[in-house]
Amino acid sequence: MRPHLTQDEKKGMKKLVFATNNSHKLEEVRAMLEEAGPEVASRYEILSLSDIGCDVDIPENGLTFADNALRKAEYVKVHYNIDCFADDSGLEVRALGMEPGVRSARYASEEGFDHNNEANTEKLLRNMEHVKERQAQFRTVIVLLMDGFKEEFEGICRGEITRKPIGNKGFGYDPVFMPEGHTVTFAEMAMEDKNAISHRGKAVRQLVNFLTSH
Ligand code: IMP
Repeated sequence: MRPHLTQDEKKGMKKLVFATNNSHKLEEVRAMLEEAGPEVASRYEILSLSDIGCDVDIPENGLTFADNALRKAEYVKVHYNIDCFADDSGLEVRALGMEPGVRSARYASEEGFDHNNEANTEKLLRNMEHVKERQAQFRTVIVLLMDGFKEEFEGICRGEITRKPIGNKGFGYDPVFMPEGHTVTFAEMAMEDKNAISHRGKAVRQLVNFLTSH
């Protein structure tokens, strides 16, 4: 992990906000920048929402992942005037018309459970009880607003929904998602193995490649 930066080191760096307070996601992006090499890592200082004093829960009620990511990035750009990127992800199940999609985090909210991983997973399995075709995919979209332009990066991970939850690692729908070409669910995989093939890992790698070549 990157040691704490001194004021001198921060001086020449470009400030880039990641519109999240999810420490796991922040660490993942910082680590991938480090992996890309000291030259690129030393050019960007990645800040979280709390680093810039933003404690607003930016609404995610857009119709697409790209909409939601753009709204979050624009919020930071407009209110704080700092270059920014934001992400939005979710699960799309073919037999359910690509639901839960942008509603992945609040899928079971009609039943009184908001942002409740277990209730979401239970509802998904219930809705798929008699479904044979179980193809699904996770999708992440990252929108970057930097130097006056907008870039979009997308990562998709295909797989299928299992008949019951398996494994206890990860979060969200991980216990019921078995990625293509694997015989274990995301919730049975080590984090590094999941990141290597996951939707978020793919989108973040594209972002890092872009920052490297920019
Ligand atoms: P977020 O936009 O990354 O916060 O994801 C929104 C919702 O999608 C989460 O609350 C989860 O329900 C679901 N989700 C996104 N990525 C994953 C993942 O890697 N594993 C399991 N569920 C995920």
